[in-house]
Amino acid sequence: MENLELLIDLHKHSDRQGPGSDSATERAITLASLDESQRLRIADLGCGTGASTLCLANKLNAEVIAVDFVPEFIEILQRNVEASGLSQRVHPQVRSMDDLEFANNELDVIWSEGAIYNIGFERGINDWRPFLKPKGVLAVSEITWLTDRRPDEIQSYWHAQYPEIDTASSKIRLLEEAGYSPLGYFTLPEHCWLDNYYHPLQRRFDEFLDRHSGSDDAQALVEAEIQEIKVFKEFKAYFSYGFYIASKLA
Ligand SMILES: C[S@@+](CC[C@H](N)C(=O)[O-])C[C@H]1O[C@@H](n2cnc3c(N)ncnc32)[C@H](O)[C@@H]1O
Repeated sequence: MENLELLIDLHKHSDRQGPGSDSATERAITLASLDESQRLRIADLGCGTGASTLCLANKLNAEVIAVDFVPEFIEILQRNVEASGLSQRVHPQVRSMDDLEFANNELDVIWSEGAIYNIGFERGINDWRPFLKPKGVLAVSEITWLTDRRPDEIQSYWHAQYPEIDTASSKIRLLEEAGYSPLGYFTLPEHCWLDNYYHPLQRRFDEFLDRHSGSDDAQALVEAEIQEIKVFKEFKAYFSYGFYIASKLA
């Protein structure tokens, strides 16, 4: 099995493929001051199996186009959408976030939790902007330094993983430079990482290793996840996901 297939198999059984929570999604909805009386058109990019998609659809009178490039994640979301009776308003799509087919000024909202890093924050906020209507809302969560001073060890770790990691003030500046007006910012609390993401993932390591017994790649994948969890626990004072909410200037 290829590494990507292993990664998908490890993560597809979880409700979330990254840190987050319904209450964080709801807090971002509040900061965005979305008009609940209007039928909004929302794209949820890098939706995974759709935790945020379902929360958006349940909270808002919205049509949600949920995009992810992993067909297995989209299939799971499609099943959950049907089971929740949301098929009329939620449209899961297998597609890459760097090859979107929205028209200019089509969307009221672009949502993306823990996924914009796949094309990079700066590229994502610039490339996606034309799809938003004037005054449309961008809401994205992105790995963020919580302070400008941090130990060399965590600095090098994140620079190897994702060199675009930066402080909130730098990310907000990028949003301003790209033609957005910031509406709000908050960081994801620890339970979004541990209770909602790492602990459910950890509980599935044994069955995953049983399914792939004898696979060095599967073993290496689990070890990398264990290392990531260890790094989070040791250095969580220095980084988290920041949730950025901004509106497109007309
Ligand atoms: C860290 S997960 C977050 C998933 C989900 N938003 C959540 O919070 O549970 C990142 C997601 O981005 C998706 N992804 C990665 N590269 C992508 C791309 N180029 N286009 C679309 N989705 C992509 C992955 O398949 C994965 O579902």
